[in-house]
Amino acid sequence: MIPIGLIGLGVMGSHLACNMLEKGFAVAGFDGDQKCRDLCATHPELLADSFSLFSDLDTLIAALKPPRILILMITAGTPVDHLLAQCSLKLTRGDILMDGGNSHFTDTIRRHKAMAVHGIAFFGVGISGGAQGARHGPAIMLGGDRVPDALWHLLQTISARHQSQPCLIHAGPDGAGHFVKMVHNSIEYADMQLLAESQFLLHNLMGLDYPDQARVFETWNQGDLAGYLTRITAQILRKIDPETGCPALDILQDQVGHKGTGLWAVQAALELGVSTPNLTQALDARVMSGMQAERKAVRKRWPVHATKVKIFEQEWMIPALAHALLAARITVFAQGFKLLAAASQHYDWALDLGAIAACWRGGCILQGTMPEWIHVAFRANPGLEHLWLDPVLGQKTAAGFDLGRRVLAIALGKELPVPNLTTALSCFDTFRQQHLWTRMVAAQRDCFGSHGFLRTDREGSVTWDWTLKQ
Ligand code: 6PG
Repeated sequence: MIPIGLIGLGVMGSHLACNMLEKGFAVAGFDGDQKCRDLCATHPELLADSFSLFSDLDTLIAALKPPRILILMITAGTPVDHLLAQCSLKLTRGDILMDGGNSHFTDTIRRHKAMAVHGIAFFGVGISGGAQGARHGPAIMLGGDRVPDALWHLLQTISARHQSQPCLIHAGPDGAGHFVKMVHNSIEYADMQLLAESQFLLHNLMGLDYPDQARVFETWNQGDLAGYLTRITAQILRKIDPETGCPALDILQDQVGHKGTGLWAVQAALELGVSTPNLTQALDARVMSGMQAERKAVRKRWPVHATKVKIFEQEWMIPALAHALLAARITVFAQGFKLLAAASQHYDWALDLGAIAACWRGGCILQGTMPEWIHVAFRANPGLEHLWLDPVLGQKTAAGFDLGRRVLAIALGKELPVPNLTTALSCFDTFRQQHLWTRMVAAQRDCFGSHGFLRTDREGSVTWDWTLKQ
């Protein structure tokens, strides 16, 4: 059996190797880093005869028979360019090269073109599901030209399944797969933020202890709010630090970083003219969390005086919060899908939004009720303009904010910030206004800069002299 070449044996790469071996593929792995090669020894699965380990790229490539399939599982950015430069000299026409890291989609477009010159079929592939997903079946989002049967067979076999359907999509050409994965991650940032804010309210507004908070998320995970992220939120709330015996959350710093995909999504959204306030806020929350010195100084000067509600209030507040969370979650996905739609049009990718949702039903971080509902919504109406315009999702959003807005208002009144939940609510209310504040903004910019404004009663831009006659 011709082995699959796997370049990069870090956490994701080594778990993917185990997955491929388990599914009956032979794997030839390469990593230039001794530490990563040592990591392989910690996986008993990698002791199999069908796995061979190389410390030199030339030897790996020589060990594979053309047409080769090579998968890169290395850090995104310049390391990918370096490896492609080496590979392009050694591979032959017809070989298949797949970048399974979180590369920027514009890099993928560029690399796809460059590899085509050498006759190498290049695929930019988003792989979601973390280490466990890589090991047992991730969701896979592929971008590139016609997919060779051998590659499709491999990916179909190692991907997650949802009701026997592989969680695999050939999203579109060149950068489409990495774009879809980038949007997946940006939704992931926002959904994590929403869940974190909900836990913050259960803790600081309603006064639940960690086991009770865990029970709330476990209950939510049985219904409309079910999903991988809801489940791990409950799991985290039950975790105890083995060293101190303290609940895990009590010993964690609140500073969170990111590796770029959420930032790129927001940049792409702004460039494409798509409003994604929740995706932006989730990124900003991470950036703000890092302003440790300023936060400390301001907190010292103006500490909050948050008081918890009376215990009997929990009875209505917990379900109200669940409603607000659900409505906000739909809002977040709606923003992500608008971004996908805009990119599809701009890059002429013909993305199938319903199929993307279907791909996210299993294996990935976003798996849960939402991808299934979105898949159903696009199946009913492939031209759906906005998730709020789907009868089911629209109704859940309207009812959710109706029942949930009071708890958010109480939180604000008690000096408890829930920026992503309130951003989602504001976004929904903004869409519902007859006239927005931007009417005044339009007038202001014409007043000081003669930038022009549009009238409601005729076509075309006009500009005024706003000076008031005495
Ligand atoms: C996944 C994850 C994975 C990773 C992201 C987020 O789908 O398996 O999204 O790709 O966790 O890169 O990482 P950051 O939060 O560090 O940006």
